[in-house]
Amino acid sequence: MTSVNDLRSSFVDYFARNGHEAVSSGPLVPRNDPTLMFTNAGMVPFKNVFTGVEKRPYSTATSAQKCVRAGGKHNDLDNVGFTARHHTFFEMLGNFSFGDYFKDHAIELAWNLLTKDWQLPKEKLMVTVYQDDDEALELWKKIAGLSEDRIVRLGAKSNFWQMGDTGPCGPCSEIFYDHGEHVWGGPPGSPEEDGDRWIEVWNLVFMQFEQHGDGSRTALPRPSIDTGMGLERVAAVMQGVHDNYDIDLFKALINAAANSTGVDVDGGGNRSLRVIADHLRSMSFLIAEGVLPSNEGRGYVLRRIMRRAMRHATLLGASEPLIYKLVPALVREMGQAYPELSRGEAMIAETVRLEEGRFLKTLGRGLQILEDETRGLGEGAVLDGATAFKLYDTYGFPLDLTEDALRNRNIKVDQAGFDAAMAAQKAEARKSWSGSGEAATDMVWYGLADKVGPTEFLGYETETAEGEIKALLKDGAEVAALAAGEEGYVVLNQTPFYAESGGQVGDTGQLMGEGVEATVSDTQKFHGVFAHKVMVTAGTLKPGQAVELLVDHGRRSAIRANHSATHLLHEALRLVLGDHVAQKGSQVSADRLRFDFVHTKPMSPEEISEVEDLANAIILQNAPVETRLMGVEEAKESGARALFGEKYGDEVRVVSMGQPTGNGLGWSVELCGGTHVRRTGDIGLVSVVAESAVGAGVRRVEALTGNAARRRGNENVAIVGAAAGLLRSGTQDVLERIAALQEQLKRTERSLSDAKQKLAMGGGSAKAEGPETINGVAFVGRVVEGLQPKDLRGLVDQTKKQVGSGVVAIVGVTEDGKAGLAVGVTEDLVGKKSAVELVKAGAAALGGQGGGGRPDMAQAGGPDGGKAEDALTAIRALI
Ligand code: ALA
Repeated sequence: MTSVNDLRSSFVDYFARNGHEAVSSGPLVPRNDPTLMFTNAGMVPFKNVFTGVEKRPYSTATSAQKCVRAGGKHNDLDNVGFTARHHTFFEMLGNFSFGDYFKDHAIELAWNLLTKDWQLPKEKLMVTVYQDDDEALELWKKIAGLSEDRIVRLGAKSNFWQMGDTGPCGPCSEIFYDHGEHVWGGPPGSPEEDGDRWIEVWNLVFMQFEQHGDGSRTALPRPSIDTGMGLERVAAVMQGVHDNYDIDLFKALINAAANSTGVDVDGGGNRSLRVIADHLRSMSFLIAEGVLPSNEGRGYVLRRIMRRAMRHATLLGASEPLIYKLVPALVREMGQAYPELSRGEAMIAETVRLEEGRFLKTLGRGLQILEDETRGLGEGAVLDGATAFKLYDTYGFPLDLTEDALRNRNIKVDQAGFDAAMAAQKAEARKSWSGSGEAATDMVWYGLADKVGPTEFLGYETETAEGEIKALLKDGAEVAALAAGEEGYVVLNQTPFYAESGGQVGDTGQLMGEGVEATVSDTQKFHGVFAHKVMVTAGTLKPGQAVELLVDHGRRSAIRANHSATHLLHEALRLVLGDHVAQKGSQVSADRLRFDFVHTKPMSPEEISEVEDLANAIILQNAPVETRLMGVEEAKESGARALFGEKYGDEVRVVSMGQPTGNGLGWSVELCGGTHVRRTGDIGLVSVVAESAVGAGVRRVEALTGNAARRRGNENVAIVGAAAGLLRSGTQDVLERIAALQEQLKRTERSLSDAKQKLAMGGGSAKAEGPETINGVAFVGRVVEGLQPKDLRGLVDQTKKQVGSGVVAIVGVTEDGKAGLAVGVTEDLVGKKSAVELVKAGAAALGGQGGGGRPDMAQAGGPDGGKAEDALTAIRALI
């Protein structure tokens, strides 16, 4: 038996041997198409190569592409469990020619693989062609030798293929396999064609056109080939079973599910086992790509798939989370071909377990309500929309889950009633909002949120993606276009740009489309709508356009590093300073980070370096940074740090970093919607550069990471090096040298001051110059250059002692030309002469006012040092 894994490689090897480039699967969330929810065909990653927008170094390729058809144009969700060949997740094997070979070689390659390499009997094969495609019909006759009764002409519905509402497309030709008489069904085009006997195994699309949004169709630059073969279907053929769910891969998954529920594989629960096995694949692959269950967009499709599987698990008797236990079985089967599954195994299992836990809380009660409300209903009846909405809103039942639950009993759901109930609830929410009195511009955004819905954020996983313009704004109002030179806001259905929130700044970058270009200088968020602030540099932006969005990668990487480092510092601060360290705010930008927290006193240098050491130790662990989706309460219980007073939704992203110390989720665990590094090692290094107070009991640390931290370190080293050069010492001795120099300077100042004092007193003895006598009173008056006011008093006291009886006046003139004056009167003359009066007279001459002190010692100052002699003259006159 050829296993699924062998078949996959056999297909790819065959085309590689025939000159095709083997390309590995692209992502499930398409980066190059704004209108597509999930990659739904092998050609999706090559879409722009077909249209000629993108060039690759090869003109033919082959791949095994993971696909999800659950939502959008191709949706198989409702068929799963009911047919032998539908899946929400499947692999498409394909070969592609980008203007290289066309119909003839495509048919030849396909026919040879099937009938020669894989040796399928020719008489079991049949083909269809597009009704007008005589060329294809002739080629099948010539190359495959098929007679006309084995070639069926069909209309556009089945033989014209397009990926979605827009994109490359063309007529196609399908190859069918006959599983044999024992299976019910008829050949393509017959009334029994929907049976499982004749199965389409391969679709060859002759890509010739591009379908545009306005309904027009243009020719591709060169005719091309896109083929798609469902791996599961062809595996069934090759393994001699007619049911996809009987191939080795599905058997393994179904057995795992049967074992863990204890049900018989072939018993009544078989349909539920199939649903679980199918949905396990789509949920695991989506989660591996970072899609998390949510109530919007792709996350909601994932949630619907997960909850549908969970209901089927309860049908098999499970009352505890169970599906997450099947993840290892899937990884065993597919992990080798898709390493993202092996890498993400733990994270996938945990995301599933958490969603199961959440849903199981309300599932039983919801099923009871469903049971009660439909008890009296017979076949063909309709469940009212209000009940379906209550199940949705209160019990988390997606509408299709309710429909699925009733499908067996042939009961439908009143969809219009459901929609009406949903609209009524929105209107109610709107009423309470408009009462809150917010600004008028806010009203515009609220209206937009209502009209275009919340923007889907793709930026956790990618920094480039296509988006469709949903609205344009200028000066607070919606506009129909933004032309070159104009500034405004762009709203898209999806974006990789992060909108400012949780302290992390908004992304900047580029926006490009056919003939248009704009720079994005900021991204903000209003009521879930992302507002890209743009300056249009070329062309004109219009709603409906598909544009490529490119986040400034360097800036975003720096922001990621700074955000992750903020979490590490937070935990390190708590460990070093204590549990009272609660976050009070943070700011994460590209060039630095800051983190405010509760703490009453300044951090010591030792505490700062301890915090740095702890954070850097986690960086060096280089463990993956993991994100989980959890209920708020559950997250808080698990010890995740949350911002006190912050409003969180019911579900939160929980980011964990570093190896857990106890049995926790990680060393640092925080509720956070920001973007983070993949592994802590990506931070490189964190360095605290400032610690300060920002308010009563709140401190702030500022830090740098990666290259910014390294550069700052280098700058500091250069400064020390230059200082060492100036000091003529080694860098090790700089501090010692500076201390020695400071000591030396102090000594020099002291002796300089002594020398000046001596000089002031006439070279060491006042008597040398002797006092003059005025009015019978001895008077010593001096002007000393460079003497500081603080030294005046000591000098006057000393001189007084030397004079014995008399008056001493000293004017000190500082380097900047200001004057200080001190006057002393010896004890015996107090009462006769007043130091205060004398000093006032002197100060007036210096251009100063006032002055004061005691009768025996007074001091003053003045701005005009040039009048020093005049001050002494004024004092002499008063004596
Ligand atoms: N793109 C074609 C398909 O999906 C091959 O059927």
